[in-house]
Amino acid sequence: MELKSMILGHFLVVSLALNAGLLYKDYSKGKHKSQHTFIFKNESLVTKMAFLETNKAPLTEVIDLDHGDPTMYEKYWQQLGDRTTVVIPGWKFISYFSDKRNLCWFLEPEFGDAIIRLHKLVGNAVTDDRYIVVGTGSTQLFQAVLYAVSSPNASEPINVVSAAPFYSVSLLELVSLLELLSSLELLCSYPLITDFLKSGLYKWAGDAHKLEKDNKPYIELVTSPNNPDGSSRQSVVNNKQGILIHDLAYYWPQYTSISSSPADHDIMLFTVSKTTGHAGTRLGWALVKDHEIAKKMTEFIVLSSIGVSKESQIRAAKILQVLSDSHENKDHFKESQPFFHHSYNLMAKRWKQLRGAVKTSKLFSLPEFPHGSCAFSGRNFASQPAFAWLKCEGEIEDCESFLRDHNILTRSGKHFGDSAKYVRISVLPRDELFDQFIDRLSALNST
Ligand SMILES: Cc1ncc(COP(=O)(O)O)c(C=O)c1O
Repeated sequence: MELKSMILGHFLVVSLALNAGLLYKDYSKGKHKSQHTFIFKNESLVTKMAFLETNKAPLTEVIDLDHGDPTMYEKYWQQLGDRTTVVIPGWKFISYFSDKRNLCWFLEPEFGDAIIRLHKLVGNAVTDDRYIVVGTGSTQLFQAVLYAVSSPNASEPINVVSAAPFYSVSLLELVSLLELLSSLELLCSYPLITDFLKSGLYKWAGDAHKLEKDNKPYIELVTSPNNPDGSSRQSVVNNKQGILIHDLAYYWPQYTSISSSPADHDIMLFTVSKTTGHAGTRLGWALVKDHEIAKKMTEFIVLSSIGVSKESQIRAAKILQVLSDSHENKDHFKESQPFFHHSYNLMAKRWKQLRGAVKTSKLFSLPEFPHGSCAFSGRNFASQPAFAWLKCEGEIEDCESFLRDHNILTRSGKHFGDSAKYVRISVLPRDELFDQFIDRLSALNST
């Protein structure tokens, strides 16, 4: 009797802790699965027991693949142990300045060097004769570019467009979604970032395909590979009046093949979030051809945050250096594969699992991507994007609701300027969550 009540008492404590986790989603602790999952209040004792004992997700457990938190990479960096540990004494980085001679004077030279080294290793972007501007995530850099390329004397705000499906969510939806999810990544939405300050300089004008051909200046965002559908993209408006911003967050060899000529656009945005997975470090960089644009971007960052954290830059520099070392000095890395080999294999495995589950269930379809030869790895492969653009086939019109009914949280195609038959699913969670998702998806079928 005493033993029974002890077990029950113990279980109640565990149960309370799990439910408290729902209220206080703790984004700082990486190891526990409850970061992405929570238990419904009406879940039975028996189901909870099964979950705790077998580590298999009961059907009542919510699998949250709505946002693209790149925790998939955690394991790799854990394997590398102290190689990326950075110790910063209290007296260091007191000054606002990193290098007063540099146009972007708050860019830590170590971080700048690590960026150049990485691009040269991968061959995905030209860095020669480019200005590097560092930002607090590429989210800040996107705003900095809008500020830098729009004209302060224009009679009306310049239109900002991107070809649908683009990364989007409306402000009203955002408020209700935030109440539900506290999903930080939602804030990265292009329309929202463009319009949230109601700038007189620029305004969101939606799908680039629908931009009126009136010869007015415009800004076109080209995200390639694209979020949400993973497609490789080029600009669609093609008018001399256009200013192009290339968001190349996912142009890395674990996601897509790298072309034999490095990307050479006027303004290119990158982020450590999707390169190495260090989204919490909040660092992005822009490679910019034009001196004036780079200067105005720097000005924006000075006006909004007087620079970018040096501690973050030093940590990111270390991580990028170790990444490059893992390829260039393979022999010294007995504990793990080179970073892009490891991450390529993991993405390939996940896409194979995903396509297998889709085939088994018969309710869904996924886009097919053309094969490309990767100048970095020498492999010939089809893109394996960070997000899956899943379509509900047949009579299911609202794919997000359908999956939600099975406790799988995704983001509807309608948030991206597309049909509700589509959802976007993150392919970047930790292994455990992804495997649970695959199990559940495979089990859904039309019978
Ligand atoms: C295409 C694209 N650009 C930029 C970002 C934001 O990157 P960061 O974390 O550097 O702000 C995201 C985040 O999901 C993204 O998908």
